[in-house]
Amino acid sequence: MFKIVSKRVLNPTVTLMEIEAPFVAKKIQAGQFIILRIDEYGERVPFTVADTDVEKGTVTIIFQIVGKTTKELSRLNAGDSLRDFVGPLGRPTELEGVKKAAVIGGGLGCAIAYPQAKHLFQSGAHVDIIAGFRSKDIVILEDEMKAVSNRLIICTDDGSYGKKGFVTNALEDEIKAGADYDCVIAIGPLPMMKFVSLLTKKYNIRTIVSLNPIMIDGTGMCGGCRVTVGGKTKFACVDGPDFDGHEVDFDEAMKRLGTYKAEEHAALDHYCK
Ligand code: FES
Repeated sequence: MFKIVSKRVLNPTVTLMEIEAPFVAKKIQAGQFIILRIDEYGERVPFTVADTDVEKGTVTIIFQIVGKTTKELSRLNAGDSLRDFVGPLGRPTELEGVKKAAVIGGGLGCAIAYPQAKHLFQSGAHVDIIAGFRSKDIVILEDEMKAVSNRLIICTDDGSYGKKGFVTNALEDEIKAGADYDCVIAIGPLPMMKFVSLLTKKYNIRTIVSLNPIMIDGTGMCGGCRVTVGGKTKFACVDGPDFDGHEVDFDEAMKRLGTYKAEEHAALDHYCK
């Protein structure tokens, strides 16, 4: 069993949990993920790790309540335990040689972008973080992102905080102003990653995206996480979750991600009754 050490509600739909998992904490690297199960009847759900504390032996995940399992998870508290917590899974992000990066987080994607930014910043790279949210009330991790970047640019769709507009607008402004990025890391909703990748392709900047398709086993056997990258079939759980954004078939990935939407809504409705 894996004990929940602490819990923090970041905004009405986003929760942070620190979980005791010393082996995972020791081994996991930026970009890798874990799969957890709440109890023996629970579904297996992948989460990218937001932070670790090797001395305390804890792993931090940040999740949004989007379905039955995340709703159930959000109702647990410090002192409760999870049945399974498996990792590290996937491949670490390849960040070697990066000197100046723009790390782009979209909403909850900031929780996944944060460890990438932290790793780069601690390795001596120049890091600008561009974090996008719908509005001020759902901004998360502002202090944490500030601490691991040379510059943090927050954008809100409605202009209620930071710069008004999308992360793509802010990124293009920086590029046009002369920011000479050798790498862009974009993590967030698929449409956001698609449009960041289209933009960076125009400027010929290497772009890494982190995909979060449906996953079941997390070990390359079920085929649930199939994506097309550079015209070839890849499995996000073993070949990713990071891929070259210029090569990903985002339209197919969006279609596949929506496959079980009706069942997901039905499961949540049934659980909430
Ligand atoms: Fe089953 Fe990737 S989750 S193959």
